[in-house]
Amino acid sequence: MNKMIVVYYSWSNGNTEKIAKLIQKITASDIVHIETLKPYTGNYKEVVEQGKREVESRFKPEIKPLLVDFENYDVIAIGTPTWWYTMAPAVLSFLNNQNWYGKIIIPFITDAGWPGHVIDDIKKTCQGAEFAQEMEIRFDSNGGNHMETAESKIEEWIMKIKHTFLK
Ligand SMILES: Cc1cc2nc3c(=O)[nH]c(=O)nc-3n(C[C@H](O)[C@H](O)[C@H](O)COP(=O)(O)O)c2cc1C
Repeated sequence: MNKMIVVYYSWSNGNTEKIAKLIQKITASDIVHIETLKPYTGNYKEVVEQGKREVESRFKPEIKPLLVDFENYDVIAIGTPTWWYTMAPAVLSFLNNQNWYGKIIIPFITDAGWPGHVIDDIKKTCQGAEFAQEMEIRFDSNGGNHMETAESKIEEWIMKIKHTFLK
């Protein structure tokens, strides 16, 4: 049987964390979250601007060690909020530090309506992996925590993951 872990980063409202925890609950997988060594301390508007500068320069912040041996997992669900049409910089740091050969990656993203190219960017960064069941989950357009994507659609997606990979 395959073993799965959910890896996520979440900053604004815990939107991505909410989805990650739902996957973990339904699939009984392991879960771990990415944190930057240096926390973002600005208010929302300031971090949106800082995020823009970081994304434009492809900045990879130092992240806290995850203490996970990814050799033990076959399937890795990776969740990120969309930051300026791509993944959050902390997720770029994480993806760059791993060997993805032979892994199945399930990318999931949250956004406020403008997902841009984040899924493609994840795929390009994880050379050697296979990708499956990618998912965009939309939250409200003001950057808040109201989920626009139907909960039933999310549960259906997670059940599909469970039946496809964790039989
Ligand atoms: C720095 C920053 C940049 C963002 N850029 C985008 C974007 O390009 N497109 C979009 O739809 N939402 C964007 N958002 C909104 C978040 O992607 C959205 O609110 C997400 O669900 C937040 O997830 P979290 O609560 O897990 O951090 C941005 C938010 C931040 C803080």
